[in-house]
Amino acid sequence: MKYSKRISTLEESLTIAISSLARDLKAQGKDVLSFSAGEPDFDTPKIIKDEAIRAINSGFTKYTQVSGINELLVAISNKLKSENNLDYEPNEIIVSNGAKHSLFNVFAALVDSGDEVIIPSPYWVTYPELVRYFGGKSIFIETDEDNDFKINASQLRAAITPKTKILVLTSPSNPTGMVYSKDELLSLYEVLKDTDIIVVSDEIYERLVYDNISFTSTGSINNDMLNRTITINGLSKAVAMTGWRMGYAASKDKTLIKMLNNLQSQSTSNINSITQKASIFGLNGDAKMDIDNFISAFNIRRDLAYKLINDIKLLNVRLPQGAFYLFINIKKINPDSMAFCKDLLEKEGVALVPGVAFGMDGYVRFSFACSEEQIKAGITRIDRYIANL
Ligand SMILES: Cc1ncc(COP(=O)(O)O)c(C=O)c1O
Repeated sequence: MKYSKRISTLEESLTIAISSLARDLKAQGKDVLSFSAGEPDFDTPKIIKDEAIRAINSGFTKYTQVSGINELLVAISNKLKSENNLDYEPNEIIVSNGAKHSLFNVFAALVDSGDEVIIPSPYWVTYPELVRYFGGKSIFIETDEDNDFKINASQLRAAITPKTKILVLTSPSNPTGMVYSKDELLSLYEVLKDTDIIVVSDEIYERLVYDNISFTSTGSINNDMLNRTITINGLSKAVAMTGWRMGYAASKDKTLIKMLNNLQSQSTSNINSITQKASIFGLNGDAKMDIDNFISAFNIRRDLAYKLINDIKLLNVRLPQGAFYLFINIKKINPDSMAFCKDLLEKEGVALVPGVAFGMDGYVRFSFACSEEQIKAGITRIDRYIANL
């Protein structure tokens, strides 16, 4: 069969090697502790599940408006106003099958062959694949642990060329958990303001921030930034709804929203009607207590994992301000993160994600979206692995 050139550019994720090894070891009866999950271990709040059951029983099971039912768009608009200081009308929002789908559609609508997309590294694995799929070119800005893995204005300025179309920002970051402050965003804006660069701001982890730090949405810093930003968010991470597939894109450019609508109307149409009804309860404050409990539990787990990892002499890690990952420096042991992960998995049955999958070798990603017992048991094994080297 002759496949399209476009599909042939897509690569399987580098993390597959580790997850298939973990699966093989499990099948052989080995006790494997996995810290590779990109999702909360909590169950979806009951009030949301009950609403989904109500939607099914009341027959809310038909096609809906492609971009989402009005009540849902209003709930998103209200959430963005009250929690994020972002002023989007319901008709400036489109709901898709998870933030990943929102990003796919947004890149489809914006990236032409030869366009450059600036992506700070380490990055979430999907961005460069999407850029390549749509014929664009990823321009990576290498960040430094000493700068909390964040880009600064001069790095951004140096990366811009006449072909630059988009800057991708992920705050809080997957894989580092770092969060851009308002001042940092303002200094990036100083570079962007004389350009027509679009910012795709992936804020999927925005509710998961710790130590009472206040999260600043990229588009909230001023009106020009709002106009050039496409805000991406969803319910997967903070509301423990990964399987429900609900994400959204918001933009002041109504033509873009219309184009996203056209694309979605010809591909997946609306997201499932039941998820739409249920999602309203993840946005309007009704699940606030559950979400607050998730955040408190993540905070305790973060502190625990951070302390235990830093107690291991040859490892060090920065304290993440958000999300549920530690990005651990393993350079003193083995700068080859894939080799480190394979060896650790084979010898001690601990699955981590190699930093090279996120574009930065010398680090591994540890997800603390699991119980405190598992965190303690896993880090005890990591400690033993290093002691036995
Ligand atoms: C940075 C980032 N953006 C987007 C997503 C996609 O989330 P979803 O498609 O479940 O909404 C993820 C999931 O891992 C992520 O880490």
